[in-house]
Parts: sequence; C-alpha cells; structure tokens
Amino acid sequence: PYVVTDACVDVNDKSCRKQCPVDCIYEGDRMLYIHPDECVDCGACLPACPVQAIFYDEDLPAQSRHFAEVNAEFFTGLGSPGGAKRVGPLGRDHALVAALPATAA
Ligand code: F3S
Ligand code: F3S
Repeated sequence: PYVVTDACVDVNDKSCRKQCPVDCIYEGDRMLYIHPDECVDCGACLPACPVQAIFYDEDLPAQSRHFAEVNAEFFTGLGSPGGAKRVGPLGRDHALVAALPATAA
C-alpha cells in the first residue's frame, strides 16, 4: 500500500484524499493515514501532495520506513471501516505522531 509520512504532520493539506477512488485516507489530528488493507495501490494520491509526504511502501526513504507501521497501527481497534467519510475526523494520532514536537508555523 501507499503510506503517509511525517512530512504531512501539521501540514495536513488533504488534497490527497480528494484523489482517492476508495476513500481510504483517514483523518487523524495532525496528519492523515492510509488504510493499508483498503488502499488499492492506484497511486493517485501521491502527486496530489504538495509536500511529497506520500510514498509507495517499497519506495519509502530509510528515515520514514517506520511510517508503514504507523499508518497500519493507526487503525488498531478500528478494523476496516470501508471509507473515511463514514467515520469522519478521528481526532487522534498514532502515539509516535502525537509525540512529535510541533513544527514552527
Ligand atoms: Fe498530508 Fe499531503 Fe495529504 S500534506 S493530508 S499527505 S496532501
Ligand atoms: Fe487511495 Fe492513494 Fe491508495 S489514492 S487507493 S490511498 S494509492
């Protein structure tokens, strides 16, 4: 699947989700997360991101590789809702993301 990385944190542009044909990009508090089981690898989200935060998992740069787990673990307890619109903004982040220092605005 495709993966949203730390470049999204506090940018949260959301252009990516408008491109997703299966609505599998879910809204956390500081970033968005791609559901690894719902993503159909279409790749439409990748060029939509103004800060290049999205990568195909096999192309993740070394320093962002752990974000494959971060995206997957975000859905622990949520299962596979089958659409981000259905669940709306979740108002929380993966613990690792929540702990990141705020970026200077
Ligand atoms: Fe984030 Fe880029 Fe989407 S900043 S919300 S991954 S368009
Ligand atoms: Fe959607 Fe991007 Fe996957 S557009 S289907 S999250 S590759």
